[in-house]
Amino acid sequence: MPSSVKRVADAPAKPNDLGAHFMPFTAQRQFKGKPRMIVSAKGMYCTSDDGRQILDASAGMWCMNAGHCHPKIVAAIQKQAADLDYAPNFSYGHPVAFQAAARLCAEMPGDIEHVFFSNSGSEAVDTAIKIAIAYQRARGKGTKTRIIGRERGYHGVNIAGISVGGLGYNRKVFSAALMPGVDHIPHTHNLEKQAFSKLQPEWGAHLADELENRILLHDAENIAAVIIEPVAGSTGVLVPPKGYLEKIRAICTKHDILLIFDEVITAWGRLGKATAAEYFNIMPDIITSAKGINGGSVPMGATFIRKGIYDAFMQGGEFGVEFMHGYTYSGHPLACAAALATLDVYKEEKLFENAAKLEKKWSEALHSLKGAPHVIDIRAIGLMGAVELDPGTRNPPHEMSRAMETFDKLFFDEGIMMRFTGNVMAMSPPLIVNESQIDEIVAKLGKTLKTVK
Ligand SMILES: Cc1ncc(COP(=O)(O)O)c(C=O)c1O
Repeated sequence: MPSSVKRVADAPAKPNDLGAHFMPFTAQRQFKGKPRMIVSAKGMYCTSDDGRQILDASAGMWCMNAGHCHPKIVAAIQKQAADLDYAPNFSYGHPVAFQAAARLCAEMPGDIEHVFFSNSGSEAVDTAIKIAIAYQRARGKGTKTRIIGRERGYHGVNIAGISVGGLGYNRKVFSAALMPGVDHIPHTHNLEKQAFSKLQPEWGAHLADELENRILLHDAENIAAVIIEPVAGSTGVLVPPKGYLEKIRAICTKHDILLIFDEVITAWGRLGKATAAEYFNIMPDIITSAKGINGGSVPMGATFIRKGIYDAFMQGGEFGVEFMHGYTYSGHPLACAAALATLDVYKEEKLFENAAKLEKKWSEALHSLKGAPHVIDIRAIGLMGAVELDPGTRNPPHEMSRAMETFDKLFFDEGIMMRFTGNVMAMSPPLIVNESQIDEIVAKLGKTLKTVK
């Protein structure tokens, strides 16, 4: 072993000893030159390695809905690790997985009564796609295999997820490996028609009609499911136009196609309800979830399905495996214990209610940035928000984009953790946020934008 590798393995992590980690979705040469390092966290705040308190305006990555290191969630994980660290879930079971499944399903709308566990949003999406295809076959409609996604959709990073996803930069390098049998409908964003809309834009419901055209092209007999995020998150918080989701639901129903809501971001209080399905009052057939399901504390993904879908699998000989799918850590005890504790916290501290109560304040505060330098659109719903910047003449990746510069300055100069995606500053504070913290986030973003050329 080269001596440099041994030294890294033996030594405690040092701020400038960053070589080994091949970082996810990061400009890592830039990062490693000037690291943004978090060493601990509590509630609304993280602590940087130089001891600064950083106000978390993004709930980590849309996941720490109950805030950081909540004592009840920490205690539940610690207890579970001491009692039962792991038990297989293939042909064995452990009680906490069944308890978590029952309690999580109870929060779902309508007849969603079953859940399949995984470890991430990406896996929840791949699981949903496999369930959709297998379900169609199980009910004798084996030609229904195609999946329709949407431009600008983000459904994680696995091959199925990037195939149904609609972000060119995530797909480009893997073009030859994408899943066959996929098509996309248009995204719903139009700056000219919608800029600075409050909550749901008035314009754009007709874009759902494009789904009818896709169905004409491929025939409903060949389509298993449509997958969309009810609010597109990672692409920069695109709020669905009024009437759009209703139309998508109606078209899917008319053509006997499953509707999958990817709620990896929107579930668990982000919009003030357990799900966006409940917020918008639209009933999907499958809901994918992760992140806030256990307050981001232990990796967990979940694919929720309606009763009829589950029932279609429960046929044939009872000694046969009904669904050939699963992960070593599906329903991991620590993740499930964390989910149960997180649900308790959501209820005891009325966190969904807090998010609902703050929606108006959040939206108004963000919209007060209209007129700030470079701002060309503002979008907000629930406790999600986006401020879109004019990219100007910057030339990324050879130069920092305006959004990246804003992100970097917010961290180092203002003590704010935010996300940026393309030209958009994206925000989603923990649901424990209060009004003065909202004001602080918005004031510091406004102040920083004034320093960006
Ligand atoms: C809507 C949606 N689906 C899937 C994913 C992927 O989740 P993960 O990063 O846990 O794989 C994300 C992540 O942000 C997401 O926003």
